[in-house]
Amino acid sequence: MCFLVIFGVQRYVFFVYQQIINPLNLRCPYCGSLSHLTNIKYFCRLKMKIGNINLGERPLLLAPMDDVTDPSFRYVCKAFGADMMYTEFVSSDGLVHNSKKSFEKMRIYDSERPIGIQIYGNIPEAMLRAAQLAEQYHPDLIDINFGCPMKKIANRGAGSGMMRDPDKMVEITKMVVEGVKLPVTVKTRLGWDEDHKIIVELAERLQDAGISALTIHGRTGTQMYKGEADWTLIGEVKKNPRMKIPIIGNGDIATDEQALSAFEEYGVDGVMIGRASFGHPWIFREIKHYLETGEHMPQPTVAEKVELSKMHLAKSIEVKGEKVGILEMRRHLATYFKGLDNFKETRLKLVTLTDPNELYRTLDHIKEVW
Ligand SMILES: Cc1cc2nc3c(=O)[nH]c(=O)nc-3n(C[C@H](O)[C@H](O)[C@H](O)COP(=O)(O)O)c2cc1C
Repeated sequence: MCFLVIFGVQRYVFFVYQQIINPLNLRCPYCGSLSHLTNIKYFCRLKMKIGNINLGERPLLLAPMDDVTDPSFRYVCKAFGADMMYTEFVSSDGLVHNSKKSFEKMRIYDSERPIGIQIYGNIPEAMLRAAQLAEQYHPDLIDINFGCPMKKIANRGAGSGMMRDPDKMVEITKMVVEGVKLPVTVKTRLGWDEDHKIIVELAERLQDAGISALTIHGRTGTQMYKGEADWTLIGEVKKNPRMKIPIIGNGDIATDEQALSAFEEYGVDGVMIGRASFGHPWIFREIKHYLETGEHMPQPTVAEKVELSKMHLAKSIEVKGEKVGILEMRRHLATYFKGLDNFKETRLKLVTLTDPNELYRTLDHIKEVW
């Protein structure tokens, strides 16, 4: 009862604050929240929404990763609490030219929701068509990749290469936003290179083009994955009083403390995790636990990792069939057991065996020996 009264009073104070004291919608200079100025920590934790998709407080998103975040890996990350996921990027040219592989990547499942299909390309009409085709697969949103630094993509002006032509980037974004009914989001970087970190202004332009959320990886295109992610400009975007859409920060988040600092220091609405989830999908559960309790979770035991890898393997076979499912699991299987002593021989088995029963037996053997 007492809690309800306090809760009600807090809501009322916030309402009065927003409507009467803060009609200009001034935002906290540190975290960009509308409510921080009331100095009530609770209010700082507004629930994040992309369009009508409710992602809750301080959501953790699984980054799209080509050849990694396929349905079986997404299944595992979802089980550990990933709040939002994306498909691997899908080539708009591939879709327009009817590539089976591109369409295959758009296969999503209801249990994965909320999930976005990510597309990339540099031809406006192809991007529009791709977005409309993606929409027919019923994702919760369409995400546009303006961040990929791979030479074969960026040098053609797609992915992060689009940052060299922000006018075209905005034009494509607008076409896609207007051409589909679903919310459209963008994932990009700080700029093309060190001398052109345009993200603060670009973020405003993308927002004006109608996107519903923006993910920023704190590196430039030419930086690829080198050096450390720079979160200061992500924080600048978030603090910009003109920005209203949710900002998702991305880059090098691998520990509980880094995730907390992304929310508290840089004020982002959501944190996206990529490489640190590879071989470590329980990172979502760990960080959530830390954000809620301030305590670190113990690492899973070898036996738990074995059960997890068996679940992952089974899903991979279910989704892709025995042959491809096992082949694609190879890159994951060994990473679950990194750091085990005298593991070389077993590791070799995990990445060469083709018979599922032998693979399951090898996994059980790990449980017995280590
Ligand atoms: C193997 C790999 C594949 C990736 N594929 C994609 C992709 O398909 N789409 C995308 O937007 N970013 C892709 N990225 C970038 C990640 O989504 C993320 O932005 C980047 O890894 C930085 O985040 P992290 O430090 O948490 O890994 C990829 C990264 C890696 C390592």
